[in-house]
Amino acid sequence: MYEKFKQAGKITGNALKKGISMVKEGVSYLDVAEEVEKFIKQNARMAFPVNISVNNIAAHYTPSSDDKEVFKYGDVVKVDVGAHIDGYIGDTAATVDIGNEHAKLVEAAEFALKNAISVVKAGVKISDIGKEIENTIASYGFRPIKNLQGHSIERFRLHAGLSIPNYFSESRARLKEGQIIAIEPFVTNGYGYVIDAGIGNIYQVKKKSSLTNEILRHFDGLPFAERWVKEIYGDKTEARLHFLTARRLVYSYRMLVDAKNGLVSQFEHTLLVTKDGCEILTER
Ligand code: CO
Repeated sequence: MYEKFKQAGKITGNALKKGISMVKEGVSYLDVAEEVEKFIKQNARMAFPVNISVNNIAAHYTPSSDDKEVFKYGDVVKVDVGAHIDGYIGDTAATVDIGNEHAKLVEAAEFALKNAISVVKAGVKISDIGKEIENTIASYGFRPIKNLQGHSIERFRLHAGLSIPNYFSESRARLKEGQIIAIEPFVTNGYGYVIDAGIGNIYQVKKKSSLTNEILRHFDGLPFAERWVKEIYGDKTEARLHFLTARRLVYSYRMLVDAKNGLVSQFEHTLLVTKDGCEILTER
């Protein structure tokens, strides 16, 4: 099982490396998503659609099949990537700041993750990780996003029960040796709380039914993109998704944006908690 987590982590890290190298002024969101997903599919399976969340959008946006968006100068671009092998998932993210206009915002998230990782080991309190993240971000004069959290990972479960807040919390939980966790500080110069915005083109089956069997089989029960359904249902995709979401068989994720439309940065790694520290599985 750890071997598969490690393999998936490595592939996820390399996929992210490829993705962030492509994020440049004038490049389309769709090109980046498709290239990264192609890379993952050659080596593993998709754990969720490549999230490409720009500026005030913190998470849960993937390009649609006819997406026309291109990156612009000054954009703060989060790329969040997930791959799995036999259900063992790697989850990792990074931020690209096109034009280097928001270097401090990006650095705050990068160092918050780095400092959090430095305190991770078996027995450490979740609240101590949050404290490390919050203090680092505060030292830059920014805020963590409080309702987006790190998480434990189990087979076929991306968010497996344990939450790791990006701030000092009351949590009394402690890390355990052998646990797989993802730490993902989100930093903003806005409010520090995300709210639902428009459609993000990301879906997940909520109920097993003869109507959702085919989708479950294709996407392993994990989140999927409208783009991927289009490969199965073609022109009927929109109607199909509308029907399934209206019947609540399929859940439609909303884009998450900062409540005051602040810019958002994010970094994330998947880690294996060890007795004396941790192993970063999604190194790139
Ligand atoms: Co994550």
